[in-house]
Amino acid sequence: MTKLWGGRFQKSAEQWVDEFGASIGFDQQLVIEDLTGSIAHVKMLGECRILPIEDVTAILGGLEQLKVKATKDELVFEVANEDIHLNLEKMLIDLIGPVGGKLHTGRSRNDQVATDMHLYLKNRVSEIVDSIKMFQQAILTQAEQHVETIAPGYTHLQRAQPISFAHHLMAYFWMLERDQQRLSESLKRIDMSPLGAGALAGTTFPIDREKAANYLGFEHVYQNSMDAVSDRDFIVEFLSNASLVMMHLSRFAEEIILWSSQEFQFIELDDAFATGSSIMPQKKNPDMAELIRGKTGRVYGNLFSLLTTLKGLPLTYNKDMQEDKEGMFDTVQTLNGSLQIFEGMVRTMTIHTKRLNEAVHQDFSNATELADYLATKGMPFREAHEVTGKLVFLCIQRKIYLLDLTLEDLQEASKLIEADIFNVLSPVSAVKRRNSLGGTGFDQVRLQIEKAKALL
Ligand code: ARG
Repeated sequence: MTKLWGGRFQKSAEQWVDEFGASIGFDQQLVIEDLTGSIAHVKMLGECRILPIEDVTAILGGLEQLKVKATKDELVFEVANEDIHLNLEKMLIDLIGPVGGKLHTGRSRNDQVATDMHLYLKNRVSEIVDSIKMFQQAILTQAEQHVETIAPGYTHLQRAQPISFAHHLMAYFWMLERDQQRLSESLKRIDMSPLGAGALAGTTFPIDREKAANYLGFEHVYQNSMDAVSDRDFIVEFLSNASLVMMHLSRFAEEIILWSSQEFQFIELDDAFATGSSIMPQKKNPDMAELIRGKTGRVYGNLFSLLTTLKGLPLTYNKDMQEDKEGMFDTVQTLNGSLQIFEGMVRTMTIHTKRLNEAVHQDFSNATELADYLATKGMPFREAHEVTGKLVFLCIQRKIYLLDLTLEDLQEASKLIEADIFNVLSPVSAVKRRNSLGGTGFDQVRLQIEKAKALL
């Protein structure tokens, strides 16, 4: 088969060499973006009188037909035509004749491919932002029902202080809020048109880049044609933002895995989001959460892969840059899938309120209450810490908890302690009284939920 660029060649590459160099296997995902870019380009060529109107009409007709076929999945791509750009150009020429060859006037595959990538990411990033919002909504809905569910709060994975379970869930809401903001803010760098940069140096044709950018709905155009065709920062930035989202999902996944274990029993996943074991009949495994934790690694890998690919490249286009695509497609798919699964998992999980409440009654996470109580009564906090520590030790020896001590036991440790201590030591009051801004007190958590609602 003769190549669209075959003029200068005496013989064609062997098929296995073609196969190695081809990107059509994966860049066919850009089919709609590529056709959209070509439509804008040829319309601009017509407006600028670079091509006569009848040629523009013929080319537009052909491109529209290809678009219809693409949406019906009727296009047959060939490895011999290397990539999506050459495949479509070849199809256009087959469809409308040699006039199709005029489409590439004043353009190169280098600005073409960059344009496709910008168009693709612009749409995908908006979709991902929507998926994040849906997930945030699921978190919010669960949180609203568990403001007064008391749960152990941890540091070092050791019981620390009791918290509202909603407060714990809402922490993830805010991480996702930042993720969503970062992705939205990155749009201004994605929303830029490289089209018209040509191979690297611009073109001698009197094109109108702003007009083509306008047709494509791009907000800005690149100011330097060499930068326009070499820049892949916007993809690196996307992969980096995606890595942060995955890191958050992975931490949440880790907690879901812990909470649904026999040891914690804080939640139970819906059957639809868990799997069984082929040998152990009793098992209910949190596979989806584990898989999301696992997939975080491949998204980080995609980020590092592209950073490494780009680091030694001289300006401008180099074929190395074809390696920007698979990691990006893979990341979009992984991220969307993970967000949707997580949304369903959180929306349908059962929270074992009773078990959480029992848990906080079987630990020393109210010890800070006692220390604070003594400090409020005038004892220096360091001393209060020491007195409380001694009482905790006494309990451990007697195999009881602070609330099991008698008033006499407590007063022996400090005369400042009075009967109101028992209310202070109850986990509910420990949570309720943490009413500082952003704290776990019920009123603060309700306020936080209201603020979060206003954002969605
Ligand atoms: N398939 C190529 C890529 O994805 C398209 C650009 C090719 N340009 C070139 N001059 N070989 O990077």
